[in-house]
Amino acid sequence: MKIVVIGGSGLIGRNVVRRLVAQGHDPVAASPSTGVDTITGEGLGDVTVGADVVVDVSNAPVWDDDAVMEFFTTSSRNLLAAERDAGVGHHVAVSIVGADRLPDSGYLRAKVAQEAEIEAGEIPFTVLRATQFFEFLTQIVEAGADGDSVRLSTGLIQFVAADDVAATVAELAIGAPAGGHVELGGPEALGIDAWARRLFAATGDERAVIADPHARYYGTELHGGELTPGAGARIGAVDFGTWFAANQQEAR
Ligand SMILES: NC(=O)c1ccc[n+]([C@@H]2O[C@H](COP(=O)([O-])OP(=O)(O)OC[C@H]3O[C@@H](n4cnc5c(N)ncnc54)[C@H](OP(=O)(O)O)[C@@H]3O)[C@@H](O)[C@H]2O)c1
Repeated sequence: MKIVVIGGSGLIGRNVVRRLVAQGHDPVAASPSTGVDTITGEGLGDVTVGADVVVDVSNAPVWDDDAVMEFFTTSSRNLLAAERDAGVGHHVAVSIVGADRLPDSGYLRAKVAQEAEIEAGEIPFTVLRATQFFEFLTQIVEAGADGDSVRLSTGLIQFVAADDVAATVAELAIGAPAGGHVELGGPEALGIDAWARRLFAATGDERAVIADPHARYYGTELHGGELTPGAGARIGAVDFGTWFAANQQEAR
């Protein structure tokens, strides 16, 4: 199958491409660095010719509220129009568990808008709603950095490894369109403050972790389990210890 992977140079995209090659498919990594731009439309017509499936794992280069909304709506519209012209039979995208429960976050509002474009379009689709990737744990913790301490929300996150996300995307891409969303989370849900303590214990970071129920996560307060998946979600195999050990190996 010819499978175009928009965002094929990114964290999830390159992993998906590698998996599809190993499975004998014909993935095409597409992004600005390969001459395909979903905002300007450059290269979109050519790359979608003969494609069976388009996987969209692109991400906005700038995350302020207006820019990220503009990115996900414009890129989805342009991409879906090119897919319609090319007769693509399946659009797969990665969104975020609970995005629709946290309208105070500009990034999450943009992901909801992306999902709405896909649902309103004519291409049969599957949306994978994943929880936060372990690969973003450090970034999420550092967002609360304040001198010798970090101040973080007690809201729950169920981190999942990018490797588990990519495996699920690759599996969904070669299957039939779900016509809706599929949820994926990691093996364990903890407060963001508790994740920071676990990370600091593993890295030897001696900063204090202050649990603050009002600390914001990407512009929004969390009140409990808004970011955790519901019953029936797929659960990734990689837990924190396994992910951290593998990550340390790669860093050497
Ligand atoms: N981070 C999380 O915890 C999380 C959780 C759930 C879902 N997600 C979603 O997962 C998806 C993938 O995230 P990621 O971390 O793998 O992304 P990433 O590593 O930041 O990669 C972004 C990709 O988007 C491409 N891109 C940027 N602008 C583009 C454009 N105008 N046209 C085409 N491609 C463009 C980049 O291409 P170049 O390299 O060529 O610039 C790159 O390949 C995102 O949609 C994100 O919202 C993330």
